[in-house]
Amino acid sequence: MRPSILIIDDEQNICQSLLGILEPEGYETLAVSSGEDGLEALARRRFDLALLDIMLPGIDGLETLSRVKAIRPNCQVIIISGHGTIETAVRATKLGAFDFMEKPLSMEKTLLVVKNALHRKKLEEENLQLREEMEKGCVMIGDSIPMQALRQQIDFAAPTDARILIFGENGTGKELVARLLHYRSQRRQNRFVAVNCAAIPEELIESELFGHVKGSFTGANEDKDGKFVLADGGTLFLDEVGDMSLRTQSKILRVLEELQIEAVGGKASQKVDVRVISATNKNLDDEIEKGNFREDLLYRLEVIPFLVPPLRERTEDIETLAGFFAREFCEKYGKPHIRFTPQAMEALQQYSWPGNVRELRNLIERVVIMVPRTTIDLSDLPPYTLQSATAPSAAEAEGEESLKTAREGFEREFILRRIRECGGNISGAARSLGIERSYLYEKMRRLDIPIPKKES
Ligand SMILES: Nc1ncnc2c1ncn2[C@@H]1O[C@H](COP(=O)(O)OP(=O)(O)OP(=O)(O)O)[C@@H](O)[C@H]1O
Ligand SMILES: [Mg+2]
Repeated sequence: MRPSILIIDDEQNICQSLLGILEPEGYETLAVSSGEDGLEALARRRFDLALLDIMLPGIDGLETLSRVKAIRPNCQVIIISGHGTIETAVRATKLGAFDFMEKPLSMEKTLLVVKNALHRKKLEEENLQLREEMEKGCVMIGDSIPMQALRQQIDFAAPTDARILIFGENGTGKELVARLLHYRSQRRQNRFVAVNCAAIPEELIESELFGHVKGSFTGANEDKDGKFVLADGGTLFLDEVGDMSLRTQSKILRVLEELQIEAVGGKASQKVDVRVISATNKNLDDEIEKGNFREDLLYRLEVIPFLVPPLRERTEDIETLAGFFAREFCEKYGKPHIRFTPQAMEALQQYSWPGNVRELRNLIERVVIMVPRTTIDLSDLPPYTLQSATAPSAAEAEGEESLKTAREGFEREFILRRIRECGGNISGAARSLGIERSYLYEKMRRLDIPIPKKES
């Protein structure tokens, strides 16, 4: 979006020269000649920045400034002062103006002050967003290439209303991604409502999603809003969509088509404005093939597919994640901060994390609580994370080699199991593992896993 600038000055030639300076730079501009007109423009729409003359007919610059700050606190203001009004301009900066410029205006100075003000606004917004996300527990850690790509996808998709279906194994951070999409959208002032589709008993699903009217069934003792209504204006997160019964799927499908809901026992239908984000750890193509999932529903849910990669495919992130969780839990439990020996960190990086980030987080919590030292070594980690049948001393002696063998053994088993689950279909297995098919082939060759005949 182009930054937008409002110019408030009663001198025609000043407005003209500011427009002449700013428009060629790609700023969106509007010039008005009084404080009243400026406030009216600001009430109608958002501006990033206002250039405000101090001497105005009608309400003066200072008064305009305080009203601007009251209706649009995020709009930056730069004061334009004439000869002899510098003191007032200085006062204005105390009232919240970012800076002031003195007439006659020079092109360089104007562009510089404008650029600084817009930059500062951007920083303030980013800070605010980060703070909000921190408060809501929505911090996404990880700078590996797949996470950078995911972050960029989130930035692109968040401000739109497009439906997003998030794929990923258990504990990879699907819900976190859904929350980030919400908090970075225009809907963030409204609610993020999560529904675990797998956990609601089939007979209650309609009432949960669409609400019910008092007396419509036994136990309906009062009117109740459904999740679609609670999420009105906000985001509805349908979690575990791959586990919905076919009956529920057809109900959801109908609602998604029209965004029109009818409470159980109610007479009128109601239009709702919700953005739907959904998630699954299943391979929905396979579920469609098996007749467990409706293909038309997939198209309704998945305008943009997101994939949250498993932790073992972004081992670079493990150290930062472990550090982040360690700080979180040390603070929570009032413990001194801990650190990991290089050997312990290496073991964490080598382990395959079938439970992904959630498993890592739980492990760090356990270590913080149970280990009475501030330096965490190999022997403080649960044996299964070492993935080696040998005792730590032997593992130490054999060093990386034994860890590597253990890891390969595990990976081999894991991949074989997935291929079996997918009925020998390699593309399916790759999808369910969340990796590229070519990468799976390469892994299979490396791990001596025979490639099924029909695939090779
Ligand atoms: N990149 C990350 N940075 C920080 N915390 C993370 C990250 N990814 C996941 N987490 C944390 O790990 C836990 C699991 O994440 P989340 O619930 O989003 O996963 P999920 O994919 O929805 O899991 P499931 O499939 O089991 O529902 C949460 O506590 C979440 O905050
Ligand atoms: Mg989840």
